[in-house]
Amino acid sequence: MKKIFSGVQPTGIITLGNYIGAFRQFTALQDDYECVFCIVDQHAITVPQDPEELRSHIRSLAALYIAVGIDPNKSTLFIQSEVPAHAQAGWIMQCISYIGELERMTQFKDKSTGKEAVSAALLTYPPLMAADILLYQSDIVPVGDDQKQHVELTRDLAERFNKKYGEVLTIPDIQLPKNGARIKSLQDPLKKMSKSDPNNKATIRLLDTPKEIEKKIKSSVTDSEGIVAFDLENKPGVSNLLTIEAALTDVSVEALVQKYEGKGYGDFKASVAQVIIDHLAPIQARYEELLNSSELDDILDHGAEKANTLANATLAKMEAAMGLGRRR
Ligand code: TYM
Repeated sequence: MKKIFSGVQPTGIITLGNYIGAFRQFTALQDDYECVFCIVDQHAITVPQDPEELRSHIRSLAALYIAVGIDPNKSTLFIQSEVPAHAQAGWIMQCISYIGELERMTQFKDKSTGKEAVSAALLTYPPLMAADILLYQSDIVPVGDDQKQHVELTRDLAERFNKKYGEVLTIPDIQLPKNGARIKSLQDPLKKMSKSDPNNKATIRLLDTPKEIEKKIKSSVTDSEGIVAFDLENKPGVSNLLTIEAALTDVSVEALVQKYEGKGYGDFKASVAQVIIDHLAPIQARYEELLNSSELDDILDHGAEKANTLANATLAKMEAAMGLGRRR
């Protein structure tokens, strides 16, 4: 069976962007692949985090993974900091990375430009992400479009490692969703929808109430034309809403445009909001059941145990190939 790995940062309640770009892919893949999914809390601390908030976001994210349909009997779910091999392999990946290539990462540029104090870890974030992926000998990494450059770097690092130390690591491929690889901000449809956007109206979070969802979609930025059509360049706001509905319903954008023919933006937005509300209702109900349950701890304990076994096996191979320690 081919192997899948992906991770999500516990830096806030996840957005509809995370859901469509990543989670929807995860649940669709778990029947046909050996899947490992991670709550990447060590990535989260590359920028300052309040300890109580971080703890609560980690648990919330774990509950959401299960609530959206990750089946712990099929997939492994664990917390990154509970598997020390990630930090260890991350160090190895840093040692084979060049500063120049890390400085070229657009996410590093976005997050560091204009900031006074930038942690060293913000620069070395991609080698840790490479370690996450490579430790599980992953064949495929399902992510949204914004992670493309990081996965490409992971491939480069794996190839570099293998060339120098022998064929130890699997070279992973990226997989983007067909619809919604980059869901846009509701307030600035040229920017991606982001967990860390300070403007609350720009993002729909998976735990938003129906009222909040209605309000946010209603106030989303569109244009003054009043015609529902898909045109990324001239109508990015309307196109984003169409993409969201298409991704959630598996109906094509073309069919949706036909459905909304002759309708104004008021009707269109009310209908998109309802689709989102109906889609999230069962996820939110399951989330509430899971959040404070011992079932969730059992899933994470079991996941950490499994992930430690898998990751340690690869780490041992990497260390031996490099001549670290005494093992051959
Ligand atoms: P993160 O936590 O920012 O996002 C989690 C996943 O959601 C996708 N995503 C989006 N997809 C579509 N539209 C959007 N607006 C949108 N915003 C986010 C992301 O592409 C991602 O798939 N570096 C990663 C976490 C990570 C990881 C890994 C991922 C760490 N190690 C190993 C894969 C494999 C990140 O910050 O994702």
